[in-house]
Amino acid sequence: MVSPVKNRKAGESRDWSQLIKTDGVKGSVYSDPDIFEEELEKIWYKTWVYVGHESEVPNNNDFVMKSIGPEPIIMTRGRDGEVHLLLNRCSHRGNKVCMKEKGNARTFTCPYHAWTFATDGKLIGQAFPDGFQSKEKSELGLGKVPRVASYGGFVFGSFAKEGPSLEEHLGGAKETIDRLLKNSPCGEIEVTAGFLKHKVRGNWKLLLENETDGYHPGFVHASVFQAMDSRINELYSDKSISVSRVYDQGHTEIDLRPEFRKRNEELSWFGTTPERVPDYTAQMKAAYGDEEARKIMIDGVPHVMIFPNLFIAEIQIFVIQALSSEECVQHVTALQFKGCPDINKRLRQQTMGSVGPAGFLLADDSEMYERTHSGLKAQLPEFTYTGRGDHRERRDENGFIIGDSTDDTCSRGIWKHYRSLMEAE
Ligand code: FES
Repeated sequence: MVSPVKNRKAGESRDWSQLIKTDGVKGSVYSDPDIFEEELEKIWYKTWVYVGHESEVPNNNDFVMKSIGPEPIIMTRGRDGEVHLLLNRCSHRGNKVCMKEKGNARTFTCPYHAWTFATDGKLIGQAFPDGFQSKEKSELGLGKVPRVASYGGFVFGSFAKEGPSLEEHLGGAKETIDRLLKNSPCGEIEVTAGFLKHKVRGNWKLLLENETDGYHPGFVHASVFQAMDSRINELYSDKSISVSRVYDQGHTEIDLRPEFRKRNEELSWFGTTPERVPDYTAQMKAAYGDEEARKIMIDGVPHVMIFPNLFIAEIQIFVIQALSSEECVQHVTALQFKGCPDINKRLRQQTMGSVGPAGFLLADDSEMYERTHSGLKAQLPEFTYTGRGDHRERRDENGFIIGDSTDDTCSRGIWKHYRSLMEAE
């Protein structure tokens, strides 16, 4: 495994059974910097991590700055048309070779001594080349994430040279991405609306848990739901027939389809009607036929958290970037369906209203993250409690564990998987 981890104490091991129980987690798991270092090695620099979307680099030599945890990553489309994940560190003395957020460039030239790299990471030029005799240029390319794979246009990287394939990692959660893509008449989504970045003074795992916590919305977001006169509250009440679901590998979902099917209204998931997006509705009917299009538009898009950092939040995509035990960044963008300008405009507007700079939804959550992170540093009680609904967990028709939408089913699934990763050698 290629691991950029530094300062790990050799031979250190932990008794995770004393830190993570079936119904709670010790507060220090959220704030211990040594645990964060271990997470880098065992999660962020080992498992598959979402990096970006193919539509962000549509043309050869396009590049966009991304990350895997604290590690900056340049996602490029090389001259060969392939997507590459390059480390932003010159192979000479370590300077950053790219300082722009995104663009199109045939090469990256390091500003320090002018070494030049192609967009696939190969070293193609050195200033005053006569001085370099003892090492081949082919050995001095940029660092590359060893494994890169995509599913439905979502590009993931893994620093582990060997391990489960991306499809194995996604497991049953692949179906949620398929479901998302079905909502596009051409079967493709685009990540082209630009990202908002929100820094949080809180541990990344608070976000991971919160994204599929169906218990909090009716309380934390009560003012937004009231102001919008929205029906979202129904989805997260204790009367809701929506379910929480745990897939393999720690992926979790709040499946809202049972509630939307009960309503039996197209585009109710988006709080709109077919009349307001006539072009999109016509495109869907042309693509799938009237009956199938109606079913898809009733079910809507998924609300799924792909472990550890990709949250497909119905109309948005969130990417969680862990920076330290104390800090993380939420990158958020509006989902866009390829070739559907009328619904895409509304998706951008709703995104700005809910999670933009003046939006309340994400501000509400961020306030909870920061207060919880701070609160968890109190010495007692030592553990959180995540036992809600454990008596009514059951399995769906595919064998995945489900609970009521307000239960802690997803949290328990996340922690079980997290512990398995942290216990692995
Ligand atoms: Fe990049 Fe010297 S550090 S060329």
